[in-house]
Amino acid sequence: MTETTTRTATTRPVFVRHDDAALRTLHIVTWGCQMNAYDSLRMADVLRPIGYREVATDDADMVIFNTCHIRERAADKLFSALGRLRAVKEARGGRMMIAVAGCVAQAEGAEILRRAPYVDLVVGSQAYHKLPELIAAVEAKRASVIGASVIDTAFPAEQKFDFLPEDQSGQGAIANIAIQEGCDKFCTFCVVPYTRGAEQSRPAAAIIAEAKRLVARGAREIALLGQNVNAWHGEGLDGRDWSLARLLDALAEIPEIGRLRYTTSHPRDMGDDLIAAHRRNAKLMPFLHLPVQSGSDAILTAMNRRHTVAGFRRIIEALRAARPDMAFSSDFIIGFPGETDADFRATMALVREVEFALAYSFTYSRRPGTPAADAVAQVAPALAHERLLELQDLLRDQQHAFNRAQVGRRFEVLFTGAGRYPGQVAGRSPYLQPVVVAGAGVADGAIGPGTMTEVTITSANPNSLMGTINQEQIAA
Ligand code: SAH
Ligand code: SF4
Ligand code: F3S
Repeated sequence: MTETTTRTATTRPVFVRHDDAALRTLHIVTWGCQMNAYDSLRMADVLRPIGYREVATDDADMVIFNTCHIRERAADKLFSALGRLRAVKEARGGRMMIAVAGCVAQAEGAEILRRAPYVDLVVGSQAYHKLPELIAAVEAKRASVIGASVIDTAFPAEQKFDFLPEDQSGQGAIANIAIQEGCDKFCTFCVVPYTRGAEQSRPAAAIIAEAKRLVARGAREIALLGQNVNAWHGEGLDGRDWSLARLLDALAEIPEIGRLRYTTSHPRDMGDDLIAAHRRNAKLMPFLHLPVQSGSDAILTAMNRRHTVAGFRRIIEALRAARPDMAFSSDFIIGFPGETDADFRATMALVREVEFALAYSFTYSRRPGTPAADAVAQVAPALAHERLLELQDLLRDQQHAFNRAQVGRRFEVLFTGAGRYPGQVAGRSPYLQPVVVAGAGVADGAIGPGTMTEVTITSANPNSLMGTINQEQIAA
């Protein structure tokens, strides 16, 4: 096995169509966060001009695993999936290219090639714009050396976004745009600063141009993505440094955009101007994902979150004052090293007080190379698990209560497609809850993907809502 590490920025890849080449099939498996889902779409965009067409099964000419490194379990998925795919590759007589992309590729590229030498290509999260040339490098090596692999996990000087093709597909009425990437915060439990690199913001002009292209393809809701999206600050259309609040105002001026969101935010970057944007920008949805991780100041300090529980509470109150219909989701880590029963009780108390509409919670996962991994006071897994179940019971009750509280409310639903049963259409509430509508106003086919119309919520399920189209909407 030979490894080539491309450490320098390369020239702009040329997107030429290989009309002489037979169409090749591509299958991308995506794990991890919304940023990874966005990256997978963009990898398909990069590969389309050189003849790759996506297929649903892994019996393909090229299979890409777009991986997540956030918890040990997430990273383990890769090696079991690779083991299965090895057999598929052998059954094809080796005529398959296996690529590993994303955060495990970035963090453990060399280790992947050591454990799974049948992997042809390892491409880090900042290098996938170079896929065409990396594939060409694998093909060239195959012609000369048996079993050669290529690895590119460099953090190039250029921003990959500047090199991605403008022709984007795969997004619908709800579309995502990566606007910020990387993290400078170094929470003691987290791999992201190592897998995604330093914080980088795209310029406003590039983001607005991408939004307009997505709108032309039917997008009505735009979600801005970033590992610390509210740390975004970039070159504005006037050449000055813009804040996220200013960017959201500029996007709201695009008439076809009905809804705006941004995720994931860090409490430290939840400035007054962004809170004020929730008061003035009517297209900004009243729903914010704001991870708090713990309700104990001692644990927040040990996590290097650099804010207090009181600080988090103040942000929630200010946002509720700016928009009384505001709802929140959050992330929690249970069993962080040193977490006492009192620390856990403080987390439960904060959850009771805030009342979250949705939340993601996990037990702490030790990530080698992060500061907390070496802490001596690791919490016994069984105890952490017991606490997690108690927290999740409360969070589930809050989610159900929030869904039930929507019954009788009227709000606009953005429809995304057909429901599961004939005569149904499905969409999303302002709080991202799936909403299913049937009956009058639906049957005539007037509602399609991208339609935004007022709905009265008639019933709530644990994970979705049912509603009817308001009569006056039908008459109009
Ligand atoms: N930038 C965001 C979160 C990105 S990671 C923020 O600062 O809030 C997404 C979530 O994964 C985190 O919010 C955290 O709850 C969880 N997470 C990250 N590292 C983890 C670890 N080592 N163990 C368990 N959960 C972890
Ligand atoms: Fe990870 Fe903390 Fe950065 Fe979020 S802010 S990505 S949790 S290091
Ligand atoms: Fe996972 Fe990387 Fe996202 S570690 S959560 S895929 S930034």
